[in-house]
Order: sequence, then structure tokens, then C-alpha cells
Amino acid sequence: MDSRLFEAARRAMKHAHAPYSHYCVGAAILADDGTVYAGCNVENAAYPEGWCAETSAIGAMVTAGGRQIREIAVMGAGADLTTPCGGCRQRIAEFAKPETPIHICGPDGLRRTFKLAELLPASFGKDHLL
Ligand code: THU
Repeated sequence: MDSRLFEAARRAMKHAHAPYSHYCVGAAILADDGTVYAGCNVENAAYPEGWCAETSAIGAMVTAGGRQIREIAVMGAGADLTTPCGGCRQRIAEFAKPETPIHICGPDGLRRTFKLAELLPASFGKDHLL
């Protein structure tokens, strides 16, 4: 994993707005052009209106004109693997390939790397649209 990704996810995690779950998450995307985009989870008092760190990072990438994820790192503070939720797997798939690496990290370092296809098999995508 590109070390810039790990550091960007770690920095973003520190900015998480997670006063309800107290579960801070950071995410960082390495885009095809070499740019790194980061995001954190942003919770809301109206609980369903909060969003995930991956969603923030994708928003930052798309807003800056990026369209292709080369790698993505997700960092949670807990002891378990902070794997992306179902909605974020679908959002990642919009801008990634089946073999795109998703690095699951803790503050201690890289814990496990999945390919997108492992986390979102038999996915629905633009090729299904008529
Ligand atoms: N969360 C993320 O930001 N990314 C993940 O991959 C898993 C969960 C956030 C959503 C919510 O703010 C908190 O973690 C607890 O679910």
C-alpha cells in the first residue's frame, strides 16, 4: 500500500465527526492520476443523515475531477476490521474495478487487503443498465 494513503486516512480519522457512535473512521483514495483524496465519517443528530468516511473521500475525489480509484484505504480505531458498509461498497464500485485493492487499516498499520470483487461479488453496475 502507498504510505501516503495510510497517512492520509490516519489524518482524516482525527477529523471524524462521530459524537453518536464514537466510532471514528478515515478513508483515503489514491486516484489514477496519483492524487490522494481523504474523508472522514460525518454523523448527524438525525442519525440516518450521517455519512461514512468512504463517501466523504469519494465526494472529495469527484468534486476535484477525479474519476478512477486505483487503491483505497479505510482506517477504524476499533480492534476489528473496519470494512466498508454495503452502500459504500456500491459507491466504491462506481469508480473502481473488480480487482481494485481495498486496504483495511488500524492505527497500528495495514491489517488486510481485499479486492473489491471479494467485498461486492456479482455486483450491479453500469453495464446492467439498458
Ligand atoms: N463508518 C464508516 O465511516 N466507514 C465504514 O467503513 C464503517 C462505518 C462509520 C459510519 C458511522 O458514522 C460509524 O462508522 C459507526 O457505524
